[in-house]
Amino acid sequence: MSVTFDDIQRAADLVRSRIPGLPTIGVVLGSGLGAFAGRLEHGVAIPYDEIPGWPPSRIVGHEGRLVVGTRCGRTVVVLSGRAHYYEGHDLQTVVFGPRVLGLLGVKTLVLTNAAGGINTGFAQGALMVIDDHINFLGSNPLVGPNDDRFGPRFPDMSAVYSPRLRAIAHQVAAELTIPVAHGVYVAVHGPSYETPAEIRAFRTLGADAVGMSTVPEAIVARHMGVEVLGISCITNMAAGVLPAPLNHEEVMETARRVGGQFIGLLEGIIARL
Ligand code: HPA
Repeated sequence: MSVTFDDIQRAADLVRSRIPGLPTIGVVLGSGLGAFAGRLEHGVAIPYDEIPGWPPSRIVGHEGRLVVGTRCGRTVVVLSGRAHYYEGHDLQTVVFGPRVLGLLGVKTLVLTNAAGGINTGFAQGALMVIDDHINFLGSNPLVGPNDDRFGPRFPDMSAVYSPRLRAIAHQVAAELTIPVAHGVYVAVHGPSYETPAEIRAFRTLGADAVGMSTVPEAIVARHMGVEVLGISCITNMAAGVLPAPLNHEEVMETARRVGGQFIGLLEGIIARL
């Protein structure tokens, strides 16, 4: 199914009609990191199923709602729950939400996720500022006709994750004494976790963390000229790094455990924007 500019505009119009003010900052919350949405002041929540065209989110640990409110004097829109490629959506559907945020006027998008640690210097529970990504999804959300109202046919991807925002994230982390790593995120299709051989291959390719989201969202955000920051929560060490099998419960449990730190970092960053 191809998603048109008009589809996105219809969704954005509905959201605009229900919220008190227009957000300039967007945040997409990853697995187990949903608590941030409850921290917004004067928050207005819109369930995804009330927004025309919005793909449903069916993953345990992901809510399905958009929340607009204020934090640190800024109007922020939070997507609590995202669509994933592994659910069977095409990539244009996966990026429906970030596209809507672009049309609402968001200038800065913070993408968060749970990821497996490939870099053996990382520890479970660490936070990683994304320096760059490797798209291993086998496709791209911009495949198909280009609508110039979104952006150009061949958008530049030489600095997807804003150096300015990355510097702010590291400064805030240092001030809050939150240890933060940085590195390259590789996006895979999922939903099966990787094999140890795949993880060794990704390490050789230069990846530090692996996950099943974020990259399509970052690509369309850059397509629309939105500045992007990516933060991964290393919820587990990737397959084969430790002698134990991986499971989704562990991912959720770690994300919840470091949720407080993560929210502190996010709020510190928002206060600086
Ligand atoms: N692999 C892929 N996606 C993930 C992982 C992982 O190890 N952990 C959390 N999301």
